[in-house]
Amino acid sequence: MSKPKVVVTRRWPAEVEAQLKSLYDVQLNESDIPMSADQLKLALQTADALLPTVSDAITADILNVEGKRAKIIANFGVGYNNIDINAAREQGLVVTNTPHVLTDCTADIAMLLLLMSARRASEGDRLVRNRQWTGWSPTHMLGQKVTGKTLGLIGFGRIAQAMAKKAHQGFGMKILFYVPSASPQHIIDYLQATRCETVEELLTEADFVSIHCPGGAATRHLINEQRLKLMRPSAHLINTARGDVVDSKALIKALQERWIAGAGLDVFEGEPNIDPGFLELDNVALLPHLGSATRETRIAMGERVLHNIAAFFAGSEPGDRVV
Ligand code: DGY
Repeated sequence: MSKPKVVVTRRWPAEVEAQLKSLYDVQLNESDIPMSADQLKLALQTADALLPTVSDAITADILNVEGKRAKIIANFGVGYNNIDINAAREQGLVVTNTPHVLTDCTADIAMLLLLMSARRASEGDRLVRNRQWTGWSPTHMLGQKVTGKTLGLIGFGRIAQAMAKKAHQGFGMKILFYVPSASPQHIIDYLQATRCETVEELLTEADFVSIHCPGGAATRHLINEQRLKLMRPSAHLINTARGDVVDSKALIKALQERWIAGAGLDVFEGEPNIDPGFLELDNVALLPHLGSATRETRIAMGERVLHNIAAFFAGSEPGDRVV
């Protein structure tokens, strides 16, 4: 029997590309240049599975292409707001993602950005590199103490809980969270966490606010000008979820006018073309979407995709099916 044909849209770690080669008739993307809409359409017409990632926009136009052969879209990434899920459902396509394996590394990056923002790490690094540092003094570059402060989490899924654990156990932080759905009571008890009834309540009470909700239409600009104004002038906003959850223009204004003290961002609206306003600011730490970027995690993400398509081609339910 011939091997199923799969198309991978970007380079993956060599270990998982090797497994793909041995198991499938695979089209890899050695140039790592993002595929065009036409190339993605052709992949759906000629392959049994499309293996995109979070930076590929899999739109309704692409999914509605005539003469599709593909039956499954196995996303390399836990977030799948890059895929038009309604169109995929209407087209009868199975969609999977890669949960669990990137939880800790993404929570680490959130904690890293929290510390960078609180302690002015990017600003300090620039000062040293630019040879502008004139020496230690009692009032030089004072940041904010983290230990014992209050962390407010927007969303309380796996990554938020992992961050809460690090912040509570490692830094003695008090944990607040806001999530519209129910959360496991044993985790709330374990973290001694307090549920806020509204985003507004959380924003008013937290010293650090970290965003961990999914992206997409339902959460677009959840953090807007009005809500940023509720934060404390000493507070910091951390985003490792999706860029469009925060209104960039409003955040730039909040940082310029010091409605809040700082921000740490790993994700951006329209990334990688970020609003140039961020580049002018000293009180924002910027990272290029590094949440899951460790060797171990990226290999594990690839393996998760391999499990999902293996189950699908064996006629069983993929473990990480989202549609
Ligand atoms: C994801 O998987 O959704 C991250 O944003 C990239 O690892």
